[in-house]
Amino acid sequence: MSISKQEIIELLNTENSQAQELRKKAYKIKSDTIGKNVYLRALIEFTNACEKDCYYCGLRKSNADVKRYLLSEDEIFDLAMFAHENKFGSIALQSGEVLDKNYVKNFGKLLAKIKQKTNNNLRIVLSCGEQSKEVYKHWRECGGDRYLLRIETTNPKIYEKIHPNDDKHNFQARLDCLQHLRDVGFQVGSGMMVGLPYQNLEDIADDLLFLKEFDIDMCGLGPFIEHSKTPLYEKRNEIPSRDKRLQLALNSVAILRMLMPDINIASATSLDALAKNGREQGILAGANVIMPNITPERCRESYNLYERNIAITKKNVAKELEKFGEQVCWGKFGDSQHYRNRK
Ligand code: 5AD
Ligand code: SF4
Repeated sequence: MSISKQEIIELLNTENSQAQELRKKAYKIKSDTIGKNVYLRALIEFTNACEKDCYYCGLRKSNADVKRYLLSEDEIFDLAMFAHENKFGSIALQSGEVLDKNYVKNFGKLLAKIKQKTNNNLRIVLSCGEQSKEVYKHWRECGGDRYLLRIETTNPKIYEKIHPNDDKHNFQARLDCLQHLRDVGFQVGSGMMVGLPYQNLEDIADDLLFLKEFDIDMCGLGPFIEHSKTPLYEKRNEIPSRDKRLQLALNSVAILRMLMPDINIASATSLDALAKNGREQGILAGANVIMPNITPERCRESYNLYERNIAITKKNVAKELEKFGEQVCWGKFGDSQHYRNRK
């Protein structure tokens, strides 16, 4: 479906019964296109080490309050087997940005081992930031199936304001990474934060149109949540209220579903930071993927991109969704239908 930028701006801003109508419409499009299905990705936050310094993120290098951890290869492998045995269908390996050559090589080996030991019956989603095209190619050949790299914002001026101004944080480099991921054959996911400082409705509309234009296969988008140990905390009074950010993020999910009926859309954990049933609301607005967290509990409070209540990471979101009449697809890969159609 094509929707004009002006219409998107109006839809983003809808509230109450009008917003409910928008989300119902998106939910119907999802049900008609890919069914009332919710796919699972067992989330493994395997290290919170990060070489970057994004102004919004609690894991930024300059935040000395974070206790850094790295799970051992054996531990990651065991978690992958746990996910396989418990029929999650996919795992999502998420980390900060680590570029060390040894790490990159060993990580490839680990991916190959997971693939082999599960007889290719487990999909691997990677979310490990910006890497060279060679690294992406290597990881893809080792067994990575999908890659998530949020563009964060498509307005280069905002991008510059929410990142340090150096080579490590470059808008064009990030765009190039998305293209490289596509070139080496990943199912490619992107997305953005909604309710950022400096961002207006037009920016969010541009972000949504970018996802359509780039023809992404999957999306993860969520509300921005201020974190007291980051520079952007200063701007906390210059952003929409928590409820408005929740509504904007849910409207964004719904609009994206209308723009791209057959992609996979994750219902972001950050939605749960703004409402008890945030992720359920995301599914009812048109998302079709959830990522239950299986990271060992001792690590969870050290993986704070934004300040989150640890209880959120323990919520049994699959069970909650069944109460809403959703079909939670245990044992299914849940590949992006859009990727299949694109190929
Ligand atoms: N609020 C919301 N999302 C955040 N992320 C990082 N910091 C925050 C925050 N303060 C998101 C970014 C990143 C993903 C891993 O987490 O979009 O891509
Ligand atoms: Fe690192 Fe990602 Fe956080 Fe930026 S958003 S500081 S790259 S973990």
